[in-house]
Amino acid sequence: MPYRRIVVSRFGGPEVLQVIEDELRDPRPGEVRVKVLAAGVAWPDYMMRHGVYPRQPKLPFTPGYDVVGIVDQTGAGATLYRPGQKVAALLIYGGYSEYVFIPEQELVPVPEDLDPAETVCLVLNYVTAYQMLHRAVHLQTGRRMLVHSAAGGVGTALLQLGRLIGLQMFGTASQSKHGLIENLGAHPIDYRNEDFVEWVLHLTRDGVDLVCDAIGGTHWLRSYRCLRPGGTLLAYGSQALLVNGRKSLARTVGVFITAMLLYARPGHGRFKFYSITTTRNRHPQWFREDLAALLQMLRERRIQPIIAERLPFTEARLANELLEQGAVQGKVVLTF
Ligand SMILES: NC(=O)c1ccc[n+]([C@@H]2O[C@H](COP(=O)([O-])OP(=O)(O)OC[C@H]3O[C@@H](n4cnc5c(N)ncnc54)[C@H](OP(=O)(O)O)[C@@H]3O)[C@@H](O)[C@H]2O)c1
Repeated sequence: MPYRRIVVSRFGGPEVLQVIEDELRDPRPGEVRVKVLAAGVAWPDYMMRHGVYPRQPKLPFTPGYDVVGIVDQTGAGATLYRPGQKVAALLIYGGYSEYVFIPEQELVPVPEDLDPAETVCLVLNYVTAYQMLHRAVHLQTGRRMLVHSAAGGVGTALLQLGRLIGLQMFGTASQSKHGLIENLGAHPIDYRNEDFVEWVLHLTRDGVDLVCDAIGGTHWLRSYRCLRPGGTLLAYGSQALLVNGRKSLARTVGVFITAMLLYARPGHGRFKFYSITTTRNRHPQWFREDLAALLQMLRERRIQPIIAERLPFTEARLANELLEQGAVQGKVVLTF
């Protein structure tokens, strides 16, 4: 039986995303074949498409970091799931596909009543946000947090989870996105027209306890200046590496040197890296526990993922254009 998936066979803009047809195979021993219902579109897809992601797959590859779907067929020895069961998985790549093949121990069961598009937002974005707030640091009610790209996929997850803890929150974003940031309980900062360091110090006097920064490079130095003594700068990405879709050598060197400087800097605040994949490799049980906790929060409507667009998966090119243009508030989801 034929099935369709999206492939990237050369690096470049969204135009390199092509729909192809393949012959569906049976799952191998220990594997589960999953019919995909929803796949997330995320910034790392964009970085991989340009060949600059730290866990870069070789060409040709199918992008797609996270999926929710239905178990379609199980391989020999795979006994944990039965056909028809709803599941989620963090793949890193491969999700823009009608079917995916996943080792059964990497699947997480999903309650039947949850919307697949909302659920897929939890797998990468909310687990990342949750682990930053509950595993990497432990902030108490009333503490202050600054989130960059606050209207984005991970940014909105950080604000929703930070609000549940009772944090005082600040978020940088383009001005057109400030309404969303206010609705999520944070003070918006127009970083394009204002100096966010000055604003944070003006609004708080002595700074914040946590900054979540996926921009990278010298931006981390500025974020560090927003910290209160004893605060933490969590670096979890390097969006600044790509300038108009091209890798910037100067910025790559900048990211490296800045990280070295911040590690070496004594006293004032802490500098930490967070990565969902490294954390899952070290603590696979945390990923399962944290996603299960988030699924329960979604069922109780304590979190409500912001879905920027639901697009058919054959519109992956448009979905990537929207992400790349910064036109997205929340997360773009591909549906099947
Ligand atoms: N470490 C981890 O485990 C982990 C896990 C997931 C994601 N991430 C990282 O988290 C970041 C956010 O991912 P996402 O999928 O949620 O993307 P996103 O935040 O939804 O999308 C990017 C947004 O970032 C803002 N932005 C701010 N500065 C930017 C710059 N210099 N260049 C481009 N955009 C800029 C833009 O919004 P404005 O209009 O407001 O500027 C843009 O809309 C990425 O760096 C990703 O790699 C890391």
